[in-house]
Order: sequence, then C-alpha cells, then structure tokens
Amino acid sequence: MAKVWSKRFDNALDPFIEKFNASIGFDRKLILEDLDCSIAHAKMLGKTQVLTSSESSQIINGLELIKVEYLEGKFSPGLPSEDIHYSIEEKLISLIGETGKKLHTGRSRNDQVGTDIRLWLRKEIDKIEILITDLQKSFFNIAKSNIYTLIPGYTHMQRAQPLSLAHHLLAYIEMLQRDRERFKEVRARVNISPLGAAALAGTKIKIDRQFTASELGFEKIYKNSIDAVSDRDFCIEFVSASALSMSHLSKISEEIILWVTDEFSFAKLTDKCATGSSLMPQKKNPDVPELIRGKTGRVYGHLQALLTMVKGVPLSYNKDFQEDKEPIFDTAETISSCMKAMTILINEGIEFNIKNLSDSVENDFSNATDLADYLVGKDVPFRTAYQVVGEIVKYCLKRKMLFKNLKIGEFKKFHPEFDEDVFSDLKPHNVVKSRNSEGGTGFVQVEKELNHWQKKLLL
Ligand code: ARG
Repeated sequence: MAKVWSKRFDNALDPFIEKFNASIGFDRKLILEDLDCSIAHAKMLGKTQVLTSSESSQIINGLELIKVEYLEGKFSPGLPSEDIHYSIEEKLISLIGETGKKLHTGRSRNDQVGTDIRLWLRKEIDKIEILITDLQKSFFNIAKSNIYTLIPGYTHMQRAQPLSLAHHLLAYIEMLQRDRERFKEVRARVNISPLGAAALAGTKIKIDRQFTASELGFEKIYKNSIDAVSDRDFCIEFVSASALSMSHLSKISEEIILWVTDEFSFAKLTDKCATGSSLMPQKKNPDVPELIRGKTGRVYGHLQALLTMVKGVPLSYNKDFQEDKEPIFDTAETISSCMKAMTILINEGIEFNIKNLSDSVENDFSNATDLADYLVGKDVPFRTAYQVVGEIVKYCLKRKMLFKNLKIGEFKKFHPEFDEDVFSDLKPHNVVKSRNSEGGTGFVQVEKELNHWQKKLLL
C-alpha cells in the first residue's frame, strides 16, 4: 500500500525499516480512543463549517462503522499501516471514499496521538483506582476481625513492640490511600486536551478546541501548542505513581512470604493461592507474592525508560515519543493484575495462625519499653529506667528467662520502685492496649481508625 506521503518520495521504504518504524504492533490498543478522537474532530469540523454537515456525518458514520467492525472482530488493524492513526484513516477512505480524505483537516498525528494516550490513560487510572479500593476493603475486612489479635512489630527486622494485627494491616490501607490520591492528581494532568495543537504550531483552519475537549470529556486544553505535542510528563507521572504503589504491594508481599515460612509461621497459604514443587513433595510456595515482588522491578524499569526517553529531547514532537506506549501499556497491565492478585491473596489466600501470633508476643522482650515506662510512671527519669531495664534484660538472657519469670524480689534488686502490679503491665494485651497515643496501636485508637475507614470506604 502506498504511503500517504509517497508522492514526495522517489523510492519505497526499505522493508525492514518500514517494520522498524511502525507502531501498529502495539498502538492498535488505542483503536477505540483514536476513533473517539476522530469522531470528535469530525463533529467539530462540521460545527465550524470547515466541512459540510453531510461530509461531517458521512465521516462520523464511517468511523462508527469501523468501531462496530472492530468490536465484531471484522477489522483488525495491522501492517502495512504504520500506526493506528493511518490504519483508521485508510480504512475510512476505503469505506466512504473521497470524503474520508477530509478527516485529517486541521490536525496532525502529533496532537492526535497525544489525545489518544490521554483518553486511554484516563480510563486505566479510573480502573486502577477501583482496584486499589478493592484491596483496601480486603485489608479492612481482615483488620476488623483482628483488633485484639497481636503480632510482633519489628524495626530493623528485630522484635520491637507488639502490635494489634488490625493496626498493622491498617498501615497498608493508609499507603494505598496515598496511592489513590496520587493517581487522582496524575489524572488531573492527564485530563487536558492537546487536540488542535496540530503538528506543533496550531492551525489556520477554523477549529474549536474547547468543543473537541468537552466532547472528549477533557477538563481543559493545553495553552501552548508546542507544549501540547511535546508533553510526556503525564506518562512519567503515571508510571511513577504506579512504581510507588507497586513498592507497597512488594512490601506486603515480602511480609507474607516471611509470615508463611516455617520459621515465622504467622500465617499459612490456602490452596487457592499456593503452588507445589515439581520435586519436593512437601512444598507449598508463595508464588503470588513472589511474582508481585518481581513484577515491581519491571515497573521501576519502565519509569527509568521513560525518564531517559525524554532526556535531552528538544521541542517539539520527536519520534522518540513513540516509545512511550509500551511502558505505559505494560505498567497499567502489571499494576492492575498485581492489585487483583493481591486482593485475592488477602481475601482468600492466607490464613493467620492466631495461636502462633499470640505465643510469639508472649515469649520475647518486646515489653521492655513498658518495663521502663512502668518506672517512669513512678517518677524515675526515663534514661535511668531505660538503663535499669537494660540490666534486667542482660540478667534474664544469662538465665534464659523472660521478665514474667522473675520474682518481685529480683525486680526490686534492680530498682526499689518495682511492685507486684508490674506483672500486669508486662502482659502483651496490656502492652498494646496502653499505647493509646493518637495513631498508636492501642485498641481504642485502632477502633477509631477502623470507624474512619468503614465510612471512607463506604462499607
Ligand atoms: N506513531 C506515532 C507515535 O506513537 C504517532 C505520531 C507520529 N507523528 C509523526 N510526526 N511521525 O508517536
């Protein structure tokens, strides 16, 4: 098939270069957005009387027909069309003849492709937002029934202080909320129309940019035509928000992988989300969180690719930008499938081993801060109390004992202010309960958090 620009050239494109140059292999994903973009443009050309109303409707009907044919599997864009824009234009001309050649009046593929990706990304962001909310709800449901389930809390991967399991899970809901907010902010910058910027300078054809923008549901239009065709910030912002969100999925994945080891035994995998080994009959592998952790890397890679793609590229449109599509397509696909998989994993893929969780917090020194705080309550300066407890820890370790195994007389040898009531302060339930500072793990605080999220997630 002759290229639309072939008249200016004497020779045909090298066949390898033709394929090398083409984006149709991946940008056919934008077919519905490209059709919508063209329909809005044709409508506008009719309204401004650049086209007669009959020409405008002929074009619109032709484009609608292409949509139907595509949805029925009768039209599948591909080579030798270079990209989705040419593919649709060629198909339109083959369907309606000469009038089809008027569609590209007053526009360029540069503003067209920018419009298409924005329409596509806007839709994807809306879907991702719902998937994140679904995951928040899954965490919420487990949290709600585990206010009084205790889990060791760690810093530096060392036992630190016991936590309410609900509080631990609510931390993920907070992270995911920031992800949602970030996507919302990115969406606002995606939702700006470049259509009508034409190649880079605008056009002398009488167009109405506000009209096409509002037809396509854009909030506003780019003010500068050069910026309109050159801006790929929004792609980078989308992948950046995704990368951060993937890091949150990777964090919980890592925790789950640890929790289901024999060493931790805080949870076990149900058969729904685990796989066996080809060799070792006893194995039950956490493939799902491992895959999510692994896929995080590819999203980080896309971010790096896009940042590098725009580096040192002069104004305005450059073919480098064709490379924006695969990273954003794959990012959207990856984050969506990971969100879904994690939601299934949380809903039905893991079961907490409540007995093991409570045994773990019974048998460690994670109540040491509380022993110091006990003395603080008796007006002992914190630093002194801290050092006294340090000595008690050393004493216990030597004798393979825990605080609760000490006699009150032994405590008193370390500090006279110790009394019988210290034993109640050392109980893990009371340790957690007493951390009632705002945002702390104390049960009253956790209930408050849960009430807040119950309303916010509209459960
Ligand atoms: N396939 C191109 C892209 O994805 C479409 C725009 C091409 N514009 C151009 N002037 N070559 O960016």
